Amino acid sequence: MSKVIIHGHTFKTKISAAQIQKAVTDVARQINADLKDKKPLFLAVLNGSFMFVADLMKKLTIECEISFIKVASYEGTTSKGKINELIGINEDLKGRTVVIIEDIIDTGNTIENIMEQLKDHGAVDIKIATLLFKPDAYIKTIPIEYTAIVVPNDFLVGYGLDYNGLGRNLADIYVLDYNADVIVK
Ligand code: IMP
Ligand code: MG
Repeated sequence: MSKVIIHGHTFKTKISAAQIQKAVTDVARQINADLKDKKPLFLAVLNGSFMFVADLMKKLTIECEISFIKVASYEGTTSKGKINELIGINEDLKGRTVVIIEDIIDTGNTIENIMEQLKDHGAVDIKIATLLFKPDAYIKTIPIEYTAIVVPNDFLVGYGLDYNGLGRNLADIYVLDYNADVIVK
């Protein structure tokens, strides 16, 4: 087990790069079988999904397209509160099989918001592929078709996931090491 320090907190290895690759290969196999004749459009949600989608795409053998989207969060005018606008949709989604690619699904709020906005863009057949899924934190009922790795409700970093902007470059996935952070007085 190796450790890294990010923003003064200690993280320890949780999922190795080899385990990640095996899980991504399994998801790719399922997608290759399920969506063979669908010519799917993959929409990868930036920033977190960039490593997952790069590895996944290399393992896909079917005809497909990829594009990138981002949820831009800003404070709206008075009554509306926070606005989560989906940016980067340049394709016509009508009649397409769209697969959202996420790094992690936690409460499911983000994915629900993205689904609704894709429907506004005319998408009907929408599937979800996520690298990580936290079932204990999930409060939605939207089915998640493709999950690479199911994880407990811990804070994770690495392989695209960040802790306040840092750690996305790590090849393995790390978990916060609470014990190392306890200050003994
Ligand atoms: P949700 O809307 O609660 O499902 O959260 C999804 C977003 O929260 C992800 O796209 C991540 O950006 C972030 N997130 C949730 N859990 C983690 C974690 O363990 N590490 C890093 N980011 C996380
Ligand atoms: Mg994210």
